[in-house]
Amino acid sequence: MTNPLFDLTGQTALVTGASRGLGQIFARALANSGADLILTSRNRDDLTSFVAEIEAMGRKATPLALDVRDQGSIERMAAEAEAACGQIHILVNNAGCNVRKPALDVTWDDWNLILDTNLRGSFFVAQQMARRMVPHGYGRIVNVGSVTSVFGYAGLAPYGASRGGIRQLTMSLADDWGKHGITVNCLAPGWFHTKQNTVLYQNEQWVEYLKDRIPVKRPGEPRDLEGAVVFLASESSRYITGQTLLVDGGISTGAMRATV
Ligand SMILES: NC(=O)c1ccc[n+]([C@@H]2O[C@H](COP(=O)([O-])OP(=O)(O)OC[C@H]3O[C@@H](n4cnc5c(N)ncnc54)[C@H](OP(=O)(O)O)[C@@H]3O)[C@@H](O)[C@H]2O)c1
Repeated sequence: MTNPLFDLTGQTALVTGASRGLGQIFARALANSGADLILTSRNRDDLTSFVAEIEAMGRKATPLALDVRDQGSIERMAAEAEAACGQIHILVNNAGCNVRKPALDVTWDDWNLILDTNLRGSFFVAQQMARRMVPHGYGRIVNVGSVTSVFGYAGLAPYGASRGGIRQLTMSLADDWGKHGITVNCLAPGWFHTKQNTVLYQNEQWVEYLKDRIPVKRPGEPRDLEGAVVFLASESSRYITGQTLLVDGGISTGAMRATV
C-alpha cells in the first residue's frame, strides 16, 4: 500500500527534457508513485518510446514540443499542456545543457546557450506553470540544480553560474509563490552518467578520481534520485520550500583528504 504522503495518484506532473537522461528517471519515479505525465523534448518524436513505456505502466503520458530558449515555444507548450490535462500539480524543471571548457576559452555563444537554457528557460517555464497553479492554490515546483549550485569547478564556469542561479531563483520563487500554496525547491544531483557527460565516464582514470572524491565511493545511479523527486513533488514536503536538496553521495561535503 502506498503511503498517502508519497502518493501522486490523480495528479499530473510536467517533466521538461524527458527524451533521455535524468528527465526520464524523474518521470519514471513520479509515474511509479501514481502521477500522469506531460513530457517534453525539442523534438516530440524523440519521446515516442518513453511515452509507450509510461503508458505500459498504466499512466497517461502526453508528449509536447518545447524549446526552453524560445519564449513562444514555452507559451505554446503551457497552453497545450493545460488544454490536454487541465490542472498541472507538479513541474520538474529538468531541461538543461552544458559546455565543458576552460574559462579562458568560453565564447559569448557558449555563455548564452547555457544561461538561456538552464536559467532563463527554467524561470519562464516555472512562471507559465505557476500562473496556472495559482488559481488552484496548489503546486510543487522542482528545479533541477547541481552540485555546482553550491560548489565551483574548473571547466564549468557558465554552467556553475546557471546552477548557482537556479538555487537563488528557487529561494526567490518560494517566497513569491508560497502564499499561493506553491512550494519551490531545488533538487541538486551530484555526478550521474548521462549523454551530457559521457566523455568523462569513458576515461577510467577520471572515474577512479571521481569515486575517490565521493564519500560513498561511487557515482550516482538512477534509483538514488527517485525518492528525492517524489518527496519534493508530493504532500510529504508540504512545509519545505526554497531549499536545495543535494543528492550527491556526499561530494558537496568538500570531500578533501585532510590526513596523509
Ligand atoms: N547528469 C548529471 O550528472 C547531472 C548532474 C546535475 C545536474 N544535471 C542536470 O540535469 C538535467 C538533465 O541532465 P542529463 O544529464 O539528463 O542531460 P541530457 O542527457 O543531455 O538531457 C538533457 C535534456 O534536456 C533537454 N534540453 C536540452 N536543451 C533544451 C532546450 N533548449 N529546450 C528544451 N529542452 C532541452 C534535452 O531534450 P531534447 O534534446 O530532446 O530537446 C534532454 O532531454 C540538466 O539540466 C543537467 O544540467 C545533470
